[in-house]
Amino acid sequence: MDLLNVVAGCTFDDFLLTPQMSIVDRRDPATIDLSARLTTSLTLKRPVVSANMDTVTRAEMAIVMAEEGGIGIIDRGFRPGDIEPQVREVMKVKRTQHGVIPDPLTISPEATLADARAVMERARVGTLVVIAGDWHLEGLLTERDLQFVGDLSATVASRMTPRNRLVTFTGRATEAEAALAMATHRVKKLPLVDQSGRLIGLVTARDLVRQRELPFATRDDQGRLRVGAAIGARGDYLERAAELIRAGVDVLVIDIAHGHSVVMERALTEVRKRFPVVDVIAGNVATADGARFLADRGASAVKIGIGPGGGCTTRLTTSFGVPQLQAIVECRRALGDGVPLVADGGIKRHGAIALALMCGGDTVMLGSAFAGTTEAPGDIVHKSVLLPESQKPVKVPFKVLRGMASIEAIKDRLDVEDASAVDLQAIGAEGMEVSVPLRGSARPVLQEMMKHLCSSISYGGAESLRDLARRFQADPGRYLVRLTESSRRESYDR
Ligand code: XMP
Repeated sequence: MDLLNVVAGCTFDDFLLTPQMSIVDRRDPATIDLSARLTTSLTLKRPVVSANMDTVTRAEMAIVMAEEGGIGIIDRGFRPGDIEPQVREVMKVKRTQHGVIPDPLTISPEATLADARAVMERARVGTLVVIAGDWHLEGLLTERDLQFVGDLSATVASRMTPRNRLVTFTGRATEAEAALAMATHRVKKLPLVDQSGRLIGLVTARDLVRQRELPFATRDDQGRLRVGAAIGARGDYLERAAELIRAGVDVLVIDIAHGHSVVMERALTEVRKRFPVVDVIAGNVATADGARFLADRGASAVKIGIGPGGGCTTRLTTSFGVPQLQAIVECRRALGDGVPLVADGGIKRHGAIALALMCGGDTVMLGSAFAGTTEAPGDIVHKSVLLPESQKPVKVPFKVLRGMASIEAIKDRLDVEDASAVDLQAIGAEGMEVSVPLRGSARPVLQEMMKHLCSSISYGGAESLRDLARRFQADPGRYLVRLTESSRRESYDR
């Protein structure tokens, strides 16, 4: 069977998969290997990426994604020239968890408690190391030291735990050494100092506990959560990339609606030249030529999807696009086992994740699947909804999901509040805005997806995600059932 012929013109809901004999004892994400390549150098334990959309991924979402084994991409939907807010989101993620913190946040003993509180709130950390002069350790100041303090103009020195009452570790402790020292002395914070008492790091009990509690988390080599950020392909993108890299971003995403373009060629070539070692995901494309174009210019992963996204109107407004399953198969065939693919958009039910990953995606990028969750950015609005049985109106909380090319998102980015509706139409919106009912944290949503993916692996007669994709690619005819209109209704219309 020629897979490309079979999926031509088709997408997820055009197929079912034939069940095979199961070879796993339990459908358990704790024991089934779901790891996948995000880029040529980064592997995730869960094949999920949250979309760089300003109603989907900011720090809160990225933290949950990374804690659960995926990764979030912070959008660039901040106004042009406004690089700092995006950098701040990246820093929030990077400062959420550590192994050993090599560069803990510090403050001077003469600073005021108000200064200290501002630093803690801005960086969302609960501990500041007090240093004077040449990084000399003077004490520790924690959130608790600031509780119930009336006079915030007092100095940090007046409330800190001074050096002579602290347990410290001399030298660069490993996590095991730090855990032992903290257990022996029953302390929750352990500053690391060099022979002359200068601060060289900090370990917190909370971090060590989190490392053990979250075994699938996506971490860098310092134990910090990994995070990505989108930079675009015009304007301030190079400066933005430099700042994000300085803040510790793990992967950059050059993300434009049509990635097979001279604009992308220029941007990707320039980014590669200036930042040769950073991981760069480039997109979006939906054809073999487009995928090769990006891989040949140094993309560390290629993002696939022209128009399948939930908040997206590209196909309606331009008649261009490729059905997402066809696009995934075509791009995989073009790139072989080289550069990984991120299958971006169009996943409306959990089962489609398995299809995307079997047909050639290495990871999936999800937007609307995480809309309306606690971690999705944006205000909550209450709308009246009629109860179906009684027809009584009730107030239901919603959050907004909007396409990044929607008029509303463009308006915010460009700061064109005064522009008339007609001017904005001329910009050529390719996205829309929808309200999504609130539905709790994204964490159980992702966990549930992974349970369902394990069930797909079980039905597919495989022992891991990679094994499932390998078996499918070796003999797609054994799996794929092309649906008729009525069998499609029987399968997916609920
Ligand atoms: P889902 O289906 O998961 O898709 O919501 C998320 C992806 O949709 C894309 N996206 C857009 N595409 N106009 C578009 O043509 C838009 O306004 C828009 N906003 C998001 C994007 O690739 C995202 O990851």
